[in-house]
Amino acid sequence: MALVKMKDILAKAERDNYGVGAFSVANMEMVMGAIKAAEELQSPLILQIAEVRLNHSPLHMIGPLMVAAAKEANVPVAVHFDHGMTLEKIKQTLEIGFSSVMYDGSHHSLEENIQKTKEVVELAKQYGATVEAEIGRVGGSEDGSEDIEMLLTSTEEAKRFAEETNIDALAIAIGNAHGMYKGDPNLRLNRLHEINEQVDIPLVLHGGSGISAEDFKACIQKGIRKINVATATFNNIVHAVNKSVETAPYADYFALHQDSIHAVYENVKHHMQIFGSCNRVQSKEKFFHTT
Ligand code: 13P
Repeated sequence: MALVKMKDILAKAERDNYGVGAFSVANMEMVMGAIKAAEELQSPLILQIAEVRLNHSPLHMIGPLMVAAAKEANVPVAVHFDHGMTLEKIKQTLEIGFSSVMYDGSHHSLEENIQKTKEVVELAKQYGATVEAEIGRVGGSEDGSEDIEMLLTSTEEAKRFAEETNIDALAIAIGNAHGMYKGDPNLRLNRLHEINEQVDIPLVLHGGSGISAEDFKACIQKGIRKINVATATFNNIVHAVNKSVETAPYADYFALHQDSIHAVYENVKHHMQIFGSCNRVQSKEKFFHTT
């Protein structure tokens, strides 16, 4: 039984100075691959799905699956709603048992973002759930649709936002973007350092796909605790399935099912090793169990 609050996973990462991967999932194979890697490496895990992905993976199906898988895992797993857009949808995920939610008000003015985020914090409190929110704007596109222009997070705004909203984790924009980067990512590590000096809560890096191991490690040294990875996992599955079909055009469906699980497992494992989250689960009792 290991469904835990994301807040507790991040507090431990903060104490021991490592990063925790938040891996986006869209179906059972992806959930299985991520949990297999976490259990084998004895790493905490954050399983997440973004609101824009729910048209492919309906919440009433994928949500209970994620929660059930977390409860059965032998490592601490937080189930997180990524880029929640409305209070109604966020409430639905909390009812299903998600232990963490993100409200993304980054397209609003600072005042409005603060106001709406506070409402989410009030709601999540009733469920004992963690809240992540965003200030500045992560560029690129979460679902391959229209690209959003990046807006670097201002240190002053980050400080004010974190203090006034009482959130548990803050997503920042320091040159990171969703989807694959058009060139090499240009992460503003000085800005990250400044924000980390001023903001007391764990920081979140979105747009993990395409960031080098060296940059990941530098970000973790400067206070990033949660790192979101989506596109790289989806791409790994596509490559694995394509390769199987090339070598065996009439591959058995269940061979492809296994390939998908393995592709996710490989990608999650790769990132956990870079983030330094392996073998961090010796004292499971220290985690607050939500069930
Ligand atoms: P990538 O798809 O670039 O890995 O970004 C994932 C993410 O930040 C989800 O919120």
